[in-house]
Amino acid sequence: MTNETTSTDGLTRRGALTGIAGVGVALPVLAACGSDASTASDPAPAASTTAGGASTSGAPEAATPLTTTADVPVGSGTIFADEGVVVTQPSEGEFKAFSTTCTHTGCPVTEVRDAEIVCPCHGSHFSITDGSPISGPAPAPLATREITVSGQDISLA
Ligand code: FES
Repeated sequence: MTNETTSTDGLTRRGALTGIAGVGVALPVLAACGSDASTASDPAPAASTTAGGASTSGAPEAATPLTTTADVPVGSGTIFADEGVVVTQPSEGEFKAFSTTCTHTGCPVTEVRDAEIVCPCHGSHFSITDGSPISGPAPAPLATREITVSGQDISLA
């Protein structure tokens, strides 16, 4: 009798613990969903910003801005590795863009230093003005990438 009671209590406790464990598992899953939802909503503000800018240009959603003019220093540049683009500003208000693929053996350039785009693999340096090789083994300029500058937004064409 006592054993049955204990056994019943044990099953009840196990059931309760299982239920608690289930809740414990469910909460992180829900938390992860919440996290995903917030991540998914992150592009929304950018999209609304884009839509706001696009509505004045009359070209909605034609190009999502890559960056802003403020993010590209004068006399230097900024590398966008995911897009394979380096955007430079040789002089104030003049923006250029080049492929990050080095013309030597194809390494991505990784740095803009002292007004030169630098490939780390074998030390080629390129001009931020026209992408031409300044030093190192690269035989040709970095390929030009077309960009458009609309207000403060810089977009790949
Ligand atoms: S791949 Fe860039 S210098 Fe060799």
